[in-house]
Amino acid sequence: VPPQEAASAAAAAPLPVLPRGGVSARLDISPLLKDPVAFRALIDLLEDHLRASFPHIDFIAGLDSRGFLIGPPLAQRLGIGFVPIRKKGKLPGPTESASYTLEYGKAELEIQSDAVEPGQKVVIVDDLLATGGTMRAACELVKRLKAEILECLVIIELKLLKGVEKLESVPFYSLLQYD
Ligand code: PRP
Ligand code: MG
Repeated sequence: VPPQEAASAAAAAPLPVLPRGGVSARLDISPLLKDPVAFRALIDLLEDHLRASFPHIDFIAGLDSRGFLIGPPLAQRLGIGFVPIRKKGKLPGPTESASYTLEYGKAELEIQSDAVEPGQKVVIVDDLLATGGTMRAACELVKRLKAEILECLVIIELKLLKGVEKLESVPFYSLLQYD
């Protein structure tokens, strides 16, 4: 097939139901990041929520990679540190790891073994809760370091997928909910 014909056939074809990244990739927060007023309003809302909920937080932990877009500005607002929870093989030094299943395969998350001290109070942040597998793995890592998870916080919760059930007794907060 000539390249031009192939390109126009591809353009005319219906989008696959689940592109790479599944439903998570379609719920894209890029427009929010691009708009400084909207992004500031988002961080304002999350800051207000955390200040009203917890008298003391030691760290915001954020999930690689979209949690990295929300976690550091939020931690700065609160005047506390940020801890990255990364996809496998990215963090130097001793790490703890936990595997999980996504819509499009298996993956592994890691945290540096000395990232948080036992008993420290942590809020885990990500953009989206879908099946809950990613957040559950992050909780496992923070618990393994014997820190206290005050809350798992996301911007968007896809309620239909019941991801919150995977978090069991860990407190959970979402700013927006979709069915
Ligand atoms: C997406 C999203 C959440 C996760 C939610 O991340 O950012 O982290 O999926 O899915 P779950 O609740 O079903 O586990 P993804 O792994 O696609 O990678 P990215 O953040 O690096 O874009
Ligand atoms: Mg992610």
